[in-house]
Amino acid sequence: MTQIQTPALASLVGGRRADGGRRQASVDPAHTDEVVAEVLLAEPATFVAACRAASEAQPGWAATPAPVRGRAIKQLGRLVEDNREALARLVTREIGKPLAESRGEVQEVIDTCDFFLGEGRRLYGQTVPSEMPDKQLFTFRQPVGVAAVVTAGNFPVAVPSWYLVPALLCGNAVVWKPAESAPATAEALAQLCWHAGLPDGVLNLVQADGQTTFAGLEAALDAGVLDKVGFTGSTAVGRRIGELCGRHLQSPCLELGGKNPLVVMPDADLDLAVEGALFSGFGTAGQRCTSLGTVIAHEAVHGEFLDRFAAAVEGARIGDPFRDVLYGPMIDRRFLDRFLGWLDLVRPHHRLRGSSGTGRITAANPRTGFVGDPDDGLYCHPTIVDGVTADDELYGTETFGPIVGVAACASLDEAVALANGPGYGLSAAIYTRDPATAFRFRQGVGAGMVSVNNSTSGAEAHLPFGGNGRSGNGSRQSGMWVLDQFTRWQALNWDYAGRLQKAQMDVADVEGDGAFRL
Ligand code: UN1
Repeated sequence: MTQIQTPALASLVGGRRADGGRRQASVDPAHTDEVVAEVLLAEPATFVAACRAASEAQPGWAATPAPVRGRAIKQLGRLVEDNREALARLVTREIGKPLAESRGEVQEVIDTCDFFLGEGRRLYGQTVPSEMPDKQLFTFRQPVGVAAVVTAGNFPVAVPSWYLVPALLCGNAVVWKPAESAPATAEALAQLCWHAGLPDGVLNLVQADGQTTFAGLEAALDAGVLDKVGFTGSTAVGRRIGELCGRHLQSPCLELGGKNPLVVMPDADLDLAVEGALFSGFGTAGQRCTSLGTVIAHEAVHGEFLDRFAAAVEGARIGDPFRDVLYGPMIDRRFLDRFLGWLDLVRPHHRLRGSSGTGRITAANPRTGFVGDPDDGLYCHPTIVDGVTADDELYGTETFGPIVGVAACASLDEAVALANGPGYGLSAAIYTRDPATAFRFRQGVGAGMVSVNNSTSGAEAHLPFGGNGRSGNGSRQSGMWVLDQFTRWQALNWDYAGRLQKAQMDVADVEGDGAFRL
């Protein structure tokens, strides 16, 4: 292992570094003998202390005019822009995402700041007419208070920014618990936030493992110092967080898994569909929550699509994420091990395509055309599994990694049924040239996000992002829609009549002639 030169990273609570904690290394997944950083993992008490620090800082931050808070977001966007290459390179080093994708991810942070810096000058409420004279009605957006944000390793800066930026803009204080697989990236993004001008305690960083975080959430909710939880991660953990928050009458913002379908209709542009399936299924090594799970190809084009798709996957460059590749290593060893487990879902009736082997790519299990030395990192073969049916476990299971199932359908109705069958509802795509087919699919599919002639992944930063069913509780991030996660509506009525006017009872009427007929 490479010698560590720098001290371990630690949580930062109320502007002060927390000390102590279990030491853990963050390893470069493309070079497993290189340590990117070491981090001290906090205890539940640190998480609660962070929520307390946040609740002390929050009223002052909420009292800061929203346009001034918007200036902090503007400053953050500028800082990210000026540090974009360093941040993108760190993302690639720490989680192995190809550099072009890391640059795109950093751009998504900038886009999010661009959108919300102006929201500081809007955050509109309404004036509403009253049913009585000399009375006025208004609505105001109030910050929720303290938000705890727990994010995943696959998008270590973009997805956190979807929470942090609007939460802060709306006048909340935040406790951010980043993924254990990306502590150095988290520290870098938090540094950029702090340098954007946030007062101490408004953004707190807690580096901790999952169990500690859950215990910390439980204790902070019990202590009444936490008002909102945002979570991006697995359906199983999201369910536990939903239960916990429900006991405290809170509705968390949950962004969970997906088994995202991509339908190929007989009139599709097949080369375009192949391009979309290649990026959806294997970009980021299939480790996006929007990654393609199952292609549902109409039987009229199934064979032709499969042959072209398999050829594209077989020819794709995989390897060193700093070079021009479709995908690099798995995020870390935990993701690798889980992915290898999912390969057990392949059954004898399935036909495998896409690579010169399956499972981990090594010198002994090589991938033709691999870029670099596979034994340096945690690389996996891409696998296409043809012959998937609705009875297969593979069909209903989210398999976070480079594996794509292919099923056949005989009609649009069957395609919609197969698309909805697993019970997730994050993203769904259809390839067709017919507007009626596209709109019927949109109407029938349960996904929160639908693509026509485009990848299941790659959502733009200002459209509502989120899912239904096993993909989430209906909460939406991004754009103006996320404001409902981080503010609560307050209604104000102001009566200046100088006497009590009773709603519904003291209301003037309009005399009409109901018996009138033409
Ligand atoms: C995620 O995988 O958690 O739509 C988020 C996309 C990206 C974000 C994915 N913009 O693929």
